[in-house]
Amino acid sequence: MAEKRVDPEDGVAYTWDELSQFYKGKYKKKEIDAYWETCKPAKRAKSKSKAEAEPKAKTKAKTKGKAKAEAAEPKAKAKAKVKAKAKAEPKAKVKAKAKAKKETKPSGNFKVVVCGGCGGIGQPMAMLMAMDRNVKELCIYDLDISPMPPAGVAQDLIHLERKCTVKGYVGKVNEPPVNFMEEPLTGAHLVLIPAGLPRKPGQTRDDLFKVNADIAKGIVEACAKYCPEAVLAMIVNPVNSIVPAMAELYKKKGLDPMKIIGVTTLDVVRANKFVGEETNKNPNFINVPVIGGHAGATILPVFSQDKAGKLLPAEKVPDMDKHVQDAGTDVVNAKNGKGSATLSMAYAGARFGSAILSGLSGRKRTECAYCASTVTDLPYFAQKVILGPTGIEKVLPLGELNEHETKRLEEVKTQLKGEVDTGLKYAEANSLA
Ligand SMILES: NC(=O)c1ccc[n+]([C@@H]2O[C@H](COP(=O)([O-])OP(=O)(O)OC[C@H]3O[C@@H](n4cnc5c(N)ncnc54)[C@H](O)[C@@H]3O)[C@@H](O)[C@H]2O)c1
Repeated sequence: MAEKRVDPEDGVAYTWDELSQFYKGKYKKKEIDAYWETCKPAKRAKSKSKAEAEPKAKTKAKTKGKAKAEAAEPKAKAKAKVKAKAKAEPKAKVKAKAKAKKETKPSGNFKVVVCGGCGGIGQPMAMLMAMDRNVKELCIYDLDISPMPPAGVAQDLIHLERKCTVKGYVGKVNEPPVNFMEEPLTGAHLVLIPAGLPRKPGQTRDDLFKVNADIAKGIVEACAKYCPEAVLAMIVNPVNSIVPAMAELYKKKGLDPMKIIGVTTLDVVRANKFVGEETNKNPNFINVPVIGGHAGATILPVFSQDKAGKLLPAEKVPDMDKHVQDAGTDVVNAKNGKGSATLSMAYAGARFGSAILSGLSGRKRTECAYCASTVTDLPYFAQKVILGPTGIEKVLPLGELNEHETKRLEEVKTQLKGEVDTGLKYAEANSLA
């Protein structure tokens, strides 16, 4: 019988053929070989019972599904992982790891709620989440004034060939969400929040903040009551101020502020795509960290930290940097002011949501996100984070920056500070019920 080894990514034993089939096309054979060497041989009895329990067809389908779910994982990450794995792990770390593993939730069994699930972002993002194999239950929550009833969006999504159930829930405008959200939020693992108004032409960020902060607060209040352990992914703008406001309110209530995460994935997605276009490389294998914040000059793509990104000629970098910063406005203009990025945001939000679920099930992921942070002198910042069994497990340092990026970091911090302060002031003046 072919030898099986345990892939530490999911704790399942695979033969060399299965493992190499899964990673084929994404990583070079050499890299897969190296990764195989780091996988521990499966214990006989265990692997036997596993093999018996799992019919061949299922294993194959699983391998395929795995390949799909992992399609976005960049090569560089795998390499780094292989390298890191090759290093001996200190005993204490192994113990801590084992403990973390115990706290993981079983994959494929997650409950996800999309608040504002009938909006421009909400609907396509709900569809992508309904297709995620980790989602067992999907709840669509929106207001009675939304252009589409949540029950309609749910009924539509129910017909997808997926195992997950989908239900719609309605809240009444101008009434506290806590009155309507007990059922969808109870037992939820992930709450995606695009509920709120998009910025209209001529509207200042502060005006938008006043409206959307109150909307977000109502929903966060309901989460604090019904699912305090869930991860709350904030998409509603202005993220730079909303996240500090909501995280500080969580802290005031005695809850974990790290559960409140600002979704900045769209900036990463755009940076990857633009670098791919410029260097003629597949954006799937590009991973440009985008740090700072999620508005205008606070968005700082760190091209120098990606293999393809560092190939950009130095004279092109400032334009590419600006291209990523202005990409949202380009969408608003192309839509003649009738809307902002919805489809690409739904894609990015679902990519982030899937990464969270993956982390919760014990398959760690690294993504950029905006959250409470100590990597700079600002209390909130976007940078790479490791997503694990409890949500954000570790906030990673910024890494090496080149001259352009170092200069830009100062600009980022100056603008971001004011936007963080707006959020902090809101939290000082308000409390969760
Ligand atoms: N983080 C990002 O990268 C990013 C990108 C694009 C847009 N956005 C932001 O996402 C938000 C949503 O954008 P959109 O284009 O989907 O807007 P939209 O108007 O199409 O949808 C918003 C939805 O939220 C609902 N809603 C409003 N108040 C609510 C409440 N109190 N409870 C529940 N639902 C409520 C509305 O009924 C609507 O269905 C905006 O704030 C926008 O600025 C963020």
